[in-house]
Parts: sequence; C-alpha cells; structure tokens
Amino acid sequence: MSLDFTSVPARAGTDSQKWKKYAGKDILPMWVADMDFRSSPAILTALHERVEHGVFGYARPTQATVDAVVNACAARYGWQIQEDWLVWLPGLVCGLNVTAQAFAQPGEEVLCLTPVYPPFMTAPKNSGRVSVPVPLALRAGATGRGDGVWEIDWEALERAVTPRTKLFFLCNPHNPVARVFRRDELARLAEFCARHDLILCSDEIHCDLILDPSLPHLPTALVAPEHAARTLTLMAPSKTYNVPGLGTSFAIIPDPALRQRFVRATWGIVAEVTCLGYSACEAAYRDSEEWRQGLLATLRSHAAHLQATFGTGVFKDVRLEAPLEATYLAWLNVSALGLEDPIAHFEAHGVGLSEGRNFGAPPGHYVRINFGCPRATLDEGLRRMAAAIAALPVRA
Ligand SMILES: Cc1ncc(COP(=O)(O)O)c(C=O)c1O
Repeated sequence: MSLDFTSVPARAGTDSQKWKKYAGKDILPMWVADMDFRSSPAILTALHERVEHGVFGYARPTQATVDAVVNACAARYGWQIQEDWLVWLPGLVCGLNVTAQAFAQPGEEVLCLTPVYPPFMTAPKNSGRVSVPVPLALRAGATGRGDGVWEIDWEALERAVTPRTKLFFLCNPHNPVARVFRRDELARLAEFCARHDLILCSDEIHCDLILDPSLPHLPTALVAPEHAARTLTLMAPSKTYNVPGLGTSFAIIPDPALRQRFVRATWGIVAEVTCLGYSACEAAYRDSEEWRQGLLATLRSHAAHLQATFGTGVFKDVRLEAPLEATYLAWLNVSALGLEDPIAHFEAHGVGLSEGRNFGAPPGHYVRINFGCPRATLDEGLRRMAAAIAALPVRA
C-alpha cells in the first residue's frame, strides 16, 4: 500500500471550507480542523466501489460497518461495546446540540473546561441552555517551553455547580490544548458528575490521534464503569481519517433510558448518515490502520518540530506551553507579541490561524495552528508566521 503524507493536494478552488475562506487571497489556511491529506487508500477504494454500485438510497449501517466500530473499540481501547449502544449521527457538533436539548431544560446549565472547541459553549446557547465555562489551569513547567500541564481546576469546578447544572461536556483528548486526560482525572470527573447528578458527555473525536505513544486512550465510560449509565461518548472517523465532509459520527450510550432520551431529541431533526459515510467509516476502522500509523508518524514529527521551533529565535514570543499529546492542533500563546488582533496580523502576512477568543481565551492571547498537512505546507506556514513576527516593531 502506498502511503503518501508529503504530496500537497490541490484544494484551492474546491468545495473546501478551509480553503474557501481565503479564496482569491494568498493566505495559507491553517485554521479549521481538517487535514490537507488524501484519505486512506482503503477509504478511497470503498467509496469508489460504493459509487460504482450507483444507487444511493436512504442508508442504515451494514453489519460489517457496525462490526468495524465494535471491533475497533475492543481492539484499541479494550472497550467491549454492544451494537445497540450505537446511535449514528451526521456530526458530533450535532451530537453536542442534541445532548444539550435532551438532558437540560431551557435555562439549565452545561459545564465545560475552557479553552475549548467553540461548539462546546455554543451548543447549549443554541437552544436556550446556559454554558458555564470553567477555565483549565496551566501549571507552568520548569523551562516554560512546552513542559507545562493544563490541569482541571477542581475547586473552580465545584464552585461552578448550581442547582441548575445538568450536564458536563468533556473533550478528551482536549481540543485545543492537546491534552490527554489521565485515568485518575477521568475517574474523578465521573465521580464529580455522579455526586452532582450530572450527565457526562465525553467527546472523544480525537482519540485515535494520540501523539505520545506512552498514553493510551481511555474512554471515560470504561474508566468509570460504575458511572457509565450517566455517560455518553461521542466518536467519529472524521478527524483521524480526514473524512469530516462525509458527515459520519456516532454516540455510544450504554444505558437504554439515556439512549432513548437522546434518540427522542433527534427525531425529525437530525439527518440520516449517508451510504457513502457508512462505507468510509467501515473502511476507516477496519482497513486503514497502516495508514493511521503513517499519519501518526508524520504528525509526531511535525509536533516535535513545532516543539523545537516555538519559544526560540524569531518565535521566542510564540509559546507552546504544554506538550502536544494528541490532535494535529497546537495552542499558541502569542500574548508577548502585544497584538490586539493576532489573527488579522498573521492573515496580513499570508497565514490563516484560528482565533483563540472563540475558544474562550482572552482577546489577543492565543491562536491555534492546524499542523495536519504535509511538511512543505507546514514549513511555508511557519515561514509566513516568522515574516509576520519580523514585521513587528522591536519589542523589549
Ligand atoms: C472536539 C471536537 N468535537 C467535534 C468536532 C466536529 O465534529 P463534526 O464535524 O462531526 O461535527 C470537532 C472538530 O474539530 C472537535 O474538535
């Protein structure tokens, strides 16, 4: 099988949301979380075969698709899920919105740990629920160069709970701080949710993108089986296999009553997963492991490069504060650059990053860079970022 993580696919002028944002401008998009890689050969073959069939009716997952997911959970995380725990969804943002509507009433509160992927905060608000962000605490490392730890502030979390709190949205691995939560943290979170009678929604979309090989992915529901009945897990092949445009995701909900409440909230609103999405999902989980390992090797090499680059030389004021344990997204503290609008400044120098404020960070402090791309693209992005920094007035 040929694995290619160096060719740069031509995406400008296509339907790509990531690239369309800067259509007609010389701005390299390194924002939204999709990767500039072609999908795995197995996925491409499966899609070709499905297209060749030529009939695209309403779809339900075949037994082979369900088996691919069930077997992957067992083989990768030692989690034996039952087929009927699966609820298929066209996206995980959709899953977050459904969860907010299913398990909280208007005016009730949903906790999350910030900075976080923006829909964690907007999903509750979309339907009149209230998002309550609890900031993660950065424990600074000895060198200040990528050796800090983003920790849960347990006291702040306790203080944030009110009689209206109904739900906790967890992101593990965490976008954007790239942290993999440890067993003791997950167990304590599950216990916290049980003690306050909260439903725990664990978004694990990045779980097959762990960069630190010493860290396993630990599904929250598996770590704390005694609380699994109040836990729902959201997963998808979309981030790992770069198929987010195929809209295929799933919730894993062991408890029948919880599952029924969730499913009821989808009725008549949530679209079916498409036949192409199911085909890609099956090929992803069953036949794309060699590709995933190749991807991880590429992303690990990129992450090491970023870790060595930020905080030194021209990048001395662009700080990666904690290790890149997972994802292809790096959270950069740029406050020392003294920019009111870092995004506009970097765009003016040809690179499009994500605005930290949208993730709950203070204005001007953080940007997120997507390094899910060939090394040549990453190097070009860094070159443009360096030019943007070099163009600033000399700082003390
Ligand atoms: C934590 C997290 N959840 C969900 C999503 C998006 O999921 P979907 O495209 O399936 O709606 C993302 C995308 O970046 C994400 O980082």
